[in-house]
Amino acid sequence: MSLAAALKSAWSKPLLHALCLLPLLLLVFGLFADSLGANPVETLTHETGQWALRLLLVTLAMTPLQQWSGIAAWVRFRRMLGLYAFFYVVCHFSIWLVFDHSLDLAAMLEDIVERPYITLGFSALLLLIPLAATSTRAMIRRLGRRWKSLHRLVYAITALAVLHFLWLVKADYLEAGIYAIIATTLLLFRLQPVRRLASRTSAPTR
Ligand code: HEM
Repeated sequence: MSLAAALKSAWSKPLLHALCLLPLLLLVFGLFADSLGANPVETLTHETGQWALRLLLVTLAMTPLQQWSGIAAWVRFRRMLGLYAFFYVVCHFSIWLVFDHSLDLAAMLEDIVERPYITLGFSALLLLIPLAATSTRAMIRRLGRRWKSLHRLVYAITALAVLHFLWLVKADYLEAGIYAIIATTLLLFRLQPVRRLASRTSAPTR
C-alpha cells in the first residue's frame, strides 16, 4: 500500500487517536503503578508539557509535509492533532493549578504575573482557546475567511510555548534548543519565499 493510500485509509484516524492517547494512558498507568519517580507531580507536569509542545509542532508540520510529499491527505490530521495539543496543554495547566496551587485562584494569578515563563505559558493557553472553540466544521463554515486569519494565531502560540520552555530551563538548553530550532524551521516555512522554493522542489499533489 502506498503512503498516500495509507493516509487516506479508514484506519488512519483511529490509529492516530490511539497514538495521541498513549502518552496519557502511560502516565495514568505510571501514577497507579507508582513508577513516576520521586516526584510524580513534577513528572506529570513535564510530560504533559512536552507532549503538548510535540503535538503543536506535529500539527504545524502537516502543511509542509503536504507540500513536499505532494500528498494532500496529510492535512486530514491537522485538526485532530491541534485538538490533542490543546488537550495536553489543559492537562498540563490543570496539574499546575490543582497540585501546585491547590485551586487557589489568587496564588495562581500571582504566579502568572510574577513568573515570566508562567506568563508566556498562560498566554499560549489563552490563545489556544479560541482556536479549539472554532475547530468544528460549522465554525469553519460560519467564519469563512476570518477562520484562516484567526487560526494564524497558532504561529504566535508556538513561539510563546517555545519561549516558555527556554525561559524555565536553568542549565541544559539542548532539549529546549532542539524544539526551538524545529519550531523556527516550521514557522519559516510559512514565509512566502520559502513556500515558493518548497513548492518548486515538491512532487505534484495526489
Ligand atoms: C501551549 C502551552 C504550553 C506548552 C506547550 C507548555 C510546554 C511546557 C514544556 C515543554 C515544559 C518543560 C517540560 C520539561 O522540562 O521536560 C513545561 C514546563 C512547565 N510548564 Fe508549561 N506549557 C504550556 C503552558 C503552561 C501553562 C498554561 C502553565 C501554567 C500556568 C505551565 C506551567 C508549567 C510549569 C509549572 C512547568 C515546570 C517548570 C519547572 O520545571 O520548574 N505551562 N511546559
